[in-house]
Formats: sequence, structure tokens, C-alpha cells
Amino acid sequence: MKRFYVTTPLYYVNDRLHLGHAYSTIAADVLARYHRLRGEDVFFLTGTDEHGQKIAEAAASAGVTPQEWADRIVEDDQDLWKRLNISHDEFIRTTEGRHHRAVQQAFRAMREGGDIYPGTYRGPYCVPCETYHLPAEVEGGNCPDCGRPVTEVSEETFYFKLSRFEKPLLKHFEQHPDFLRPAARVAEMVRFIRQGLRDQSISRTQVRWGVPVPDQPGHTVYVWFDALMNYLTAAGYGAGQIPSTWPADVHVVGKEIVRFHTVIWPAMLMALGLPLPRRVFGHGWWTVEGEKMSKSRGNVVDPRAVCDEVGVDAFRYFLLREVPFGSDGDFSRASLRRRYAADLANDLGNLVSRIVPLARRHLGARSPRAPEGDPELRRAAGVLAERMPGWMDELEFHAALSGVWDLVTAANRFIDRAAPWRLTGNGDRSRLGEVVGQVLEVLRLLSIHLAPFMPETAAAIGGVVGQGLSPRDYPAAVRWGGLVEGRELPEAKPLFPKDRVTR
Ligand code: MSP
Repeated sequence: MKRFYVTTPLYYVNDRLHLGHAYSTIAADVLARYHRLRGEDVFFLTGTDEHGQKIAEAAASAGVTPQEWADRIVEDDQDLWKRLNISHDEFIRTTEGRHHRAVQQAFRAMREGGDIYPGTYRGPYCVPCETYHLPAEVEGGNCPDCGRPVTEVSEETFYFKLSRFEKPLLKHFEQHPDFLRPAARVAEMVRFIRQGLRDQSISRTQVRWGVPVPDQPGHTVYVWFDALMNYLTAAGYGAGQIPSTWPADVHVVGKEIVRFHTVIWPAMLMALGLPLPRRVFGHGWWTVEGEKMSKSRGNVVDPRAVCDEVGVDAFRYFLLREVPFGSDGDFSRASLRRRYAADLANDLGNLVSRIVPLARRHLGARSPRAPEGDPELRRAAGVLAERMPGWMDELEFHAALSGVWDLVTAANRFIDRAAPWRLTGNGDRSRLGEVVGQVLEVLRLLSIHLAPFMPETAAAIGGVVGQGLSPRDYPAAVRWGGLVEGRELPEAKPLFPKDRVTR
């Protein structure tokens, strides 16, 4: 069976998660669900990044130990993933023993291989980003990435010989044009590598909250070296096993951490003699009502509040439909409302609520046969089935959803043309059956195509038309004509009540 290994970034536990974190995770969830639907053996990993100075400081200001602090946040994170219907197979915490063992094993192996050596580090460090910078990059004492003040660090350290991997990394980019997506980010990374890579400091003596460096008391492993290793830990590295799940198929990450995932991480894997992940996808960032989301602005969006209002599927839909994955987007009440009212309540919701009651009232609440079908409708269904795999391979979620909506639109237009309500009075039952059967067949197809994106909606539609959620043979299931004749048609509850977004 084909394996598919997909990851989210490991989230810092300094604070509660918000819209941006939900975005990375929902996208990875959609991929995981899609590949399961294709019958693949999916391993979907998420978890928490719990070490480092930032977490230690958050815990200290709350007056608890870092471990206590992390335990609290982790519970909250897991609660959110449940709420968002995230279907991860495993949740990894960097404070787990298995992860400590993996990090230490990797550290030892690289040290023995000559890729780790001792030295001293002096220079600026950004605690919120947990990133080292060059003095020249720091403008006015502020981090070039997040704009917050940097701290000066001066300490003994171990260096990772990143410079040794300049050429191999460039060669990898050249030979694997698929490695980084969107393709537009490749040039930037290649430029960065070509400028020359400096060896990377990978241990701290001023930070106690971390994985202890093996055989060197007083040093803890730099939090990014530690965190990146999680993808290997979860695959079995460090447990004496050959990591059979490795390499990952896709690391879904935000654009600001692409550099860690396409430069440092691959270099670490090269040093360990392990294969590189097949792909890294760097998605865009969300602003809120046109402004950067930040605690100080007080505009941080809690995904739970959005779900309370519009429902979890509408939230998932909005995030993946509004902008191409890879581009930046703006989360505004007006655009959320617009998508809800137009795409969900009107287009999709009405499609269901127009046809199911008609069938229940006039066709004895039984599904008719799905006939050959109106050519336009069949064409729309065929195009969607054909193009979906390509969109999903490229993580073009907005295109996939827009393709699904082409079928929704085609079905609504078909209903307008066929005007089934005119067929109820004069006894033209067979024509009515033909029309309703075709629309129910479209609903069946929609329940499959929507399943990765909107699991609850897909299950509700599938429940009406009798399509189970895990079709064993995907290519056959998305072909026209699978509607089972003579099944009882249950009532359809309104999927997207209109009064939800009028407030
Ligand atoms: N701990 C590191 C990742 C280690 S991976 C081995 C980290 N954690 S994080 O808690 O800061 O979460 C990062 C993820 O949240 C990234 O994918 C990032 O892009 C996403 N987002 C945080 N704010 C965001 C927006 N405003 N918009 C979109 N995504 C953003 O980095």
C-alpha cells in the first residue's frame, strides 16, 4: 500500500493557538484525508515544540515550571484540534523521552561524523523567533523577521557545519524542482544558499529548558535543531528502528519557516545520511481586517469563536477557498460573511434543500435511478474527477474547491433549466425521477469531493444519498452513475442556516 507521510509544524507552547496555526493544521488535515480517501496508508503528524528560551520565559512569568506550562497549553491545543476535526494519527511533544533520545542520537552521530564542533558564539538572537542573526541584519536593534528587539548572546556553543552543505543543497534544489512549493519561493532560497552558508550554532549554555547535549553538561540543544528532529522521532529514529516511515512526503509550513525546512533540516539529514523530505510547502500569512495579527493590537482571531459562529466546515472552507495556498490572505468579517452566504448557504445549501424535499414528497422518498445524465452536468462531473488529483498533488486547494463549485453551479443551473417543480403536478413521474436522480448523483459525487475539506458537510450529504465516506475504490466512486436506486431518502437538515451570519 502506498504510504503518505504529512506533517504540520510543531507549535510553540508559549501561548494559545490562533487562526494562523489553525491554517497550517487544517491544510495538512485536508491532505491527510484526501490521501486516505485514495486508499493510501497515511501518517499525519502534528504536535508541540516545547523547549527553548521563549517557553521558559512564558512559564516564568506565569509563575509555573516550563513543564507545567507546556502541559496546560498542550491540553488546550489538543482540544482545538478536536474542535476543528483534525485527523492526525500522532501527536508528538518534544519533551517526550523518545524525542530526547532521538535528538541525542542525532547529535552524537553528527559529532562523530565531524559535522559538529565546539566554539563560542557572540551576536544578536531573537527570542520570539528563536533565531540567530548577523549583526548586519539587525536594524535598530530589532529582528529583521518579526521586528521585535533582539538580545545579545555571548556563550560557548557547538556549531553544526552548515557551510559544508552549500553545494549539495544547491544540487538538490537543481535536481528536485518539486522540492519546494510554491515554485516562486525556490529562487529566494537558492539565492540565500548562494550567498554562502555560515556554520550554525546549535547549543545554548544560557538556556536550561532543552534537551541536554550528550556528554557535555551545561549545554542544551538549540530549540530548532531539537524541533526539526521531531519528524524523524515520530518515524522511529532513536528507537533502534530503521525509520520505515521516512522520508516525509510533505512538510506543510508557513513561509517564515521555509528556510529552516529547506536549508538547515535537509543539511541535518545529509549529515545523518538520510533521505530528504520529498516536498516542503510554504504557505502564506493571514492578516486580520487588513492588519497584522498580534497580541499588542488585540486582534488575534480565536478559531473557536469563528467555529461557534459559522461552524467548523465553513471556517475550513473559507481558509482554503479565499486565497491560493502559498499566497497571503486577509481574514475579514465581510469576506467570511460573503463566502458563507453566497457559496455555502446559497449555492451548496440550496442545492440540497431544493432537491431532497421534492424527492421525498413526490417520489415516495426513494432514490430514483441515476440516468445517463444531462451532457453539461456529466461533463462538469467528469472534469472535476479528472482534475482533482492534480490539484491535490500540487496543494492547490483553492482551485480544487473552485472546481467543486463549478459542479455545484452546473447542478443549480440544470435544476433551473429542468424546472422539476413543474413536473410534480401533471404526473410526469418518470421525467421527474430523471431530473431528481441526476441531482442526487451530483450530491453523491460532492460528498466524496468535499470529504477532505468539509468532513461534517460531506457526511451529512453522504447520509442523504447513501454514499459512505470511505469509498474503497476512489476512481470508480467519482465516476458518474454510482447512485443506488430505491434507497430510502432521509430528510436533509439545513446545512448552512442563513441566520448564522446576519449578526
Ligand atoms: N515551533 C516552530 C515550528 C517548528 S517546526 C519543526 C514555530 N511554531 S509556531 O507556533 O510559531 O507556529 C508556526 C506556524 O503557524 C507556521 O506554519 C506559521 O506560518 C503559522 N502561522 C502563525 N501565524 C500565522 C498567520 N498570521 N498566518 C498564517 N500562518 C501563520 O514556528
